[in-house]
Amino acid sequence: MMSPALPSGHCWLVSRDDAGAVFGRLVPQARPISNAGRVLVKVEAAGFNYKDALACSGHPGVARQLPHVPGIDAAGVLQEPADTLPAGTPVVVTGNGLGESLPGGFASWLLAPVDAVIRRPPTLSAISAMALGTAGLTAVVAVERLAGLIDWGYQRQTGGGRTSDWLVTGASGGVGMLAVAAAAAAGHRVLACTRKSPVAEVLRSLGAAEVLTPEDAIAPGGKPLASGRYTAVIDTVGGPLLAELLRSVRHGGAVASIGNAGGLELHATVLPFILRGVTLAGIDAAGLLTNDQRRQLWPRLATLWSLVEPHFPVRLLELDGVGEWAGRMLAGETRGRAVVIPSA
Ligand SMILES: NC(=O)c1ccc[n+]([C@@H]2O[C@H](COP(=O)([O-])OP(=O)(O)OC[C@H]3O[C@@H](n4cnc5c(N)ncnc54)[C@H](OP(=O)(O)O)[C@@H]3O)[C@@H](O)[C@H]2O)c1
Repeated sequence: MMSPALPSGHCWLVSRDDAGAVFGRLVPQARPISNAGRVLVKVEAAGFNYKDALACSGHPGVARQLPHVPGIDAAGVLQEPADTLPAGTPVVVTGNGLGESLPGGFASWLLAPVDAVIRRPPTLSAISAMALGTAGLTAVVAVERLAGLIDWGYQRQTGGGRTSDWLVTGASGGVGMLAVAAAAAAGHRVLACTRKSPVAEVLRSLGAAEVLTPEDAIAPGGKPLASGRYTAVIDTVGGPLLAELLRSVRHGGAVASIGNAGGLELHATVLPFILRGVTLAGIDAAGLLTNDQRRQLWPRLATLWSLVEPHFPVRLLELDGVGEWAGRMLAGETRGRAVVIPSA
């Protein structure tokens, strides 16, 4: 048990004022006292995910109660033993309610659920680990899940060869860029779909064979089925874009629904499913993965990072930059990943 101390750090606290307006601010943070099932981590870096932007806006689906400290991912140093890991171990912590039902990583100190604590692969710095974070886990899980769902026999039988065009939407975003890299590293021909033409070069460096606008990616005409073009789609946007893309998935193809930056609703027909055997797979990286699975995924993320690091845009933020970045992210204006450095 640690003894309480004077404030020795800071955190980004999202609160509601008397008029009901949500606001965030930098506040001093005391070193917390560890309690049952949770261990103290000194945070070195925290990944900035779309969920964190939602938490900064007070979205009740993420920030379960206010005041709240966002941050669903963190990397730092264990201050006390956690399971088999001794104090002083560099660790990553993701999911398990962090930054949602529990205070998150946008802080100098974090009380992490023991089950969420994973040894950081030695080749990853805290910043690199957080450039990956939940976005990286999600991208890798989506690629592997789709690879297992595509019905190659059905594709061949219906006239498709083993060519494999994988479309990734929201490709300038954190999950999108990492999905481009992960799908290309797995040997697929990747079409990156983005509204932002200036990121085209980065996307090609990460492995995209082509960069398309959403207009290019959508088949013209309003018919329920367009000619089959994509073997797989990794969709981080949702809404009307996902509905349109379902029309162009090939027989036996598969689609991963990951995000909703472009809308929550899905107005589509069932024809891609019942006439082409298309599979629509939901990805919930927070809930799908056990801790053992995360332990196995992190070394693979480290390998992926070694391939993408020279090209991957990572923006470093201080805690007092959190509010502005959240606003830009919700407006769809950010690129790549941002990492918050609490001690800066
Ligand atoms: N299911 C899971 O387990 C899981 C895990 C992580 C994240 N997510 C979700 O995946 C999505 C992407 O997360 P992220 O961290 O990669 O976010 P991000 O970095 O903000 O990327 C989102 C991207 O979506 C695109 N977009 C298209 N229409 C948009 C609109 N109307 N408003 C804002 N963006 C729009 C933009 O890319 P372009 O400009 O290039 O088109 C934007 O960069 C989010 O919805 C997030 O909640 C889900």
